[in-house]
Amino acid sequence: MSAATKPLPKSVLISEVCLQKRIRELGTQIVDDYENQELVLLGVLRGSVLFFADLSRAIFGAQLKNITREVHIRFEFVQLTSYHNNTQPSAVELIHSGSDYLKRRHILIVEDIVDTGQTLDFLREYLWTLNPKTVKVCALLNKPSKRRVPVTIDYIGFEVPDAFIVGYGLDYAQQYRNLPYIALLEST
Ligand code: IMP
Repeated sequence: MSAATKPLPKSVLISEVCLQKRIRELGTQIVDDYENQELVLLGVLRGSVLFFADLSRAIFGAQLKNITREVHIRFEFVQLTSYHNNTQPSAVELIHSGSDYLKRRHILIVEDIVDTGQTLDFLREYLWTLNPKTVKVCALLNKPSKRRVPVTIDYIGFEVPDAFIVGYGLDYAQQYRNLPYIALLEST
């Protein structure tokens, strides 16, 4: 992609300060809910990477406020892809299915954004085949306007409008993932 055709993420939708404040709140909620348990944080590659890193540190930070409340965190990752064809509007496929450690654990899926809900629905179906103790979902962003599949999201960072969003892990053609804030993509 040449610099001339690359759309510019001009308008900041959620600032770095707002993101970090909300992620600290989510960390506190998660420590409250999983106190003294082992929890597998399951990152969905690649979009959740920055959120995953900050959320895991927010969980640690929340524990420091009260050292009797410990959550034993384990990191695991899956990678999914969606593709379009003529017969189906969109289908999801697992590229990397995570380790055997997912079996019979408390799992918290860490997602960047829930849009149609198809990716999350597919992932939950897959995880249930591993016989986990519980499966919950923490999504940084929820875009309910495009939902096709009803999904439950247990922890939501922010609701976002029906627009293409980039930054803080989210990409447009693999660009903009390293922005420290969430922006609206502006087409030129
Ligand atoms: P789904 O439509 O809920 O299955 O969303 C699947 C994936 O599409 C998300 O995990 C994101 O990686 C990507 N996605 C959906 N909406 C956006 C957006 O506005 N910007 C960037 N990526 C998006």
